Amino acid sequence: MNKLIVSLLLTLGISGVAHAAGDAAAGQAKAAVCGACHGPDGNSAAPNFPKLAGQGERYLTKQLHDIKSGKRTVLEMTGLLTNLSDQDLSDIAAYFASQKGSVGAADKKLVARGEKLFRGGDLDKGLPACTGCHSPNGAGNAAAGFPHLGGQHAQYVAKQLTDFRKEEGGRANDGDAMTMRTIARKLSDEDIAAVSSYIQGLH
Ligand code: HEC
Ligand code: HEC
Repeated sequence: MNKLIVSLLLTLGISGVAHAAGDAAAGQAKAAVCGACHGPDGNSAAPNFPKLAGQGERYLTKQLHDIKSGKRTVLEMTGLLTNLSDQDLSDIAAYFASQKGSVGAADKKLVARGEKLFRGGDLDKGLPACTGCHSPNGAGNAAAGFPHLGGQHAQYVAKQLTDFRKEEGGRANDGDAMTMRTIARKLSDEDIAAVSSYIQGLH
């Protein structure tokens, strides 16, 4: 059999993804408008705008589809994705995934509590360790779609955890299994502050 067909069959069989693979080079030009908030290379300056650099392509593509369809509300991005095709979204995701993410610093006063939660969870509350899905260095699992967290702005992380924790009007795009909603509802405000600060300095 033709080598190209064999590799095509392998790719289709193994990945089984719903969205076409992105082209990072094509994505760079399409991402120009995003740079104003997320930074030209995806390392945003403002702590309320998430860093996209080095984030997993599968996770990014899913978020873009969720934001476009309204499954995840991002008021700042209203209308921005309306005229972008599935291929555009995949290309933009591939571009940001190919960039190197920067790392911040953790608040020394919060590190011990944050690290304990991130690495060990909380047995009494039935809270699993974050490392199980987001990996010990916060790199996540790109193939599984578990987001990269290491180096992300603490303010953005804390807002996501608070939004996942809300019973209504929060972030509810974590699937029928409600993985992150269930986890966030076991976190106190102090837990969220500590683990978010720890994540900002994690690499
Ligand atoms: C006016 C500012 C602004 C612009 C322009 C903008 N975004 Fe965003 N974006 C945001 C904010 C704010 C959030 C986080 C909202 C929240 O707190 O949940 C976000 C979230 C995201 C997320 C989710 C990140 C994650 O870690 O889950 C992705 C992906 C994203 N934006 C991609 C894009 C792309 C691609 C473009 C360009 C087509 C773009 N954004 C343009 C402000 C902006
Ligand atoms: C069982 C797997 C699992 C565990 C354990 C887990 N997460 Fe997650 N997390 C996910 C998945 C999957 C998503 C993406 C949900 C989506 O598609 O929107 C996510 C998303 C997130 C996000 C949003 C990222 C972004 O860029 O917007 C944050 C923040 C987060 N998790 C923090 C944590 C913390 C802190 C812990 C530990 C207390 C934790 N997670 C434990 C699977 C997990």
